[in-house]
Amino acid sequence: MGITGQVTAMSYRYDVPGVDDIDVYEQHDGYEGLRAALTMEPTDIIQLVKDSGLRGRGGAGFPTGLKWSFVAQDTGKPVYIVCNADEGEPGTFKDRPLMEYDPHQLIEGMIVGGLALNSVQGYIYLRGEFAFAGRQLAKAIRQAYERGYLGADVMGSGKRFDLTLHRAAGAYICGEETALLDSLEGRRGQPRLRPPFPATHGLYGCPTTVNNVESIAAVPFLVRHGADWFRQWGTEKSPGPKLIGVSGNVVNPGNYEVALGTPIREIVDIAGGMAEGHELKFWCPGGSSTPLLPAAAIDTPYTFEDIAEQGSMLGTGAVMIYSDQVCVVDTVLRFTEFYEHESCGKCTPCREGGYWLSQILRRIETGSGREEDLTLLEDICGNILGRSFCALGDGMTSPITASLKHFHDEYVEHLRQGRCPFGTTAPRRDIPMLAVGSRDVGNAQVPTFEPAGQA
Ligand SMILES: Cc1cc2nc3c(=O)[nH]c(=O)nc-3n(C[C@H](O)[C@H](O)[C@H](O)COP(=O)(O)O)c2cc1C
Ligand code: SF4
Repeated sequence: MGITGQVTAMSYRYDVPGVDDIDVYEQHDGYEGLRAALTMEPTDIIQLVKDSGLRGRGGAGFPTGLKWSFVAQDTGKPVYIVCNADEGEPGTFKDRPLMEYDPHQLIEGMIVGGLALNSVQGYIYLRGEFAFAGRQLAKAIRQAYERGYLGADVMGSGKRFDLTLHRAAGAYICGEETALLDSLEGRRGQPRLRPPFPATHGLYGCPTTVNNVESIAAVPFLVRHGADWFRQWGTEKSPGPKLIGVSGNVVNPGNYEVALGTPIREIVDIAGGMAEGHELKFWCPGGSSTPLLPAAAIDTPYTFEDIAEQGSMLGTGAVMIYSDQVCVVDTVLRFTEFYEHESCGKCTPCREGGYWLSQILRRIETGSGREEDLTLLEDICGNILGRSFCALGDGMTSPITASLKHFHDEYVEHLRQGRCPFGTTAPRRDIPMLAVGSRDVGNAQVPTFEPAGQA
């Protein structure tokens, strides 16, 4: 295990006044990574990223160097590098500050990534609501063009790289990389069937890589400092520093940088500890779609492998902390309503299942739940997980199955009292009773319905 705890690595310029300006950025080692990358062969840059062990910071943790090595170079078609700056997962706010405070870091990463992949065109796909980040990136791109770091002759090297900022419309599903590509092409953002993968058939059917903001912004640091610098933090399987957003019942919720491997207990302390009068009850390691974990797992090191061992995922770097005063059913209901709303509708399990799950959770939370609802929730989740077209459907089930596993008694208490025991939601008796059981139809199980009022 390398160094753990709070670090200042990728965020070290955040506090430098005016670093969003290219002059100030360059006074603080800005574009030194690009200068060094221009002296390297593209394959050497990719090898360096592989050696560093950098794992994608967008959610799945796929090794970035390996992903870049899959991008087809011999098709005769252009290669594209696309930055996923959609950041729509509830609780997630680690990419936005990077783009707002230090936008040139991402621009530099895009150019270095372009050199590594022999790409002459990059795109930043930015979540629509990020108006300020959009202005900061647009200014940084303009300055980089004016200085000759973007365009036909990058730093006088004779190499071309153009960069386009695409402001999206703000749909969570457009963070899924193939939906993002469809959206970027001007279509409705819905996931594509894979294979073929974007590495061979991505944007406009050409070889493409889609990477998270933090993954791309890390690359100039690797070029400047080397793979060992990156590996001084974290573990063999999860090296490096990590940007995280800590939210919930802590004294100082906010954006932090920690070494991977730092235990969650220490992350809570870094955020000032639990708010006065609050005890930790549960936490989400990386956004609302990662299975929530109970307080007993507080000493888990924040790594891909340790969180996976606990049955969850590192996800998007959104550490969400919930106290003993929070109703887990209400929290899970809110998450589920989000996924129901954001389901793109392409596949039935997610489109219909999200609606049913919300209805059932809502009636439990508002006091109209029934005993069989708990098995019904499990049953519907089982019919969504692994049967949906993309990971949004799977993610929708995570908070429900994890909360039923760790806080089953709390669901039962809602049923027993006929109301939310925390008083979070006032009892209601007018929630339509939609799904009350399930039956076999062919080789599938479908819910049975009962009209409102007959329950
Ligand atoms: C519903 C959904 C939303 C996603 N949203 C984002 C996002 O906002 N940002 C992101 O980087 N990855 C997001 N992802 C993951 C991307 O599909 C993709 O794995 C990631 O951009 C790859 O980057 P990385 O290799 O650098 O981690 C999302 C995935 C799903 C299924
Ligand atoms: S799982 Fe949901 S978001 Fe993904 S394709 Fe199916 S309906 Fe769309």
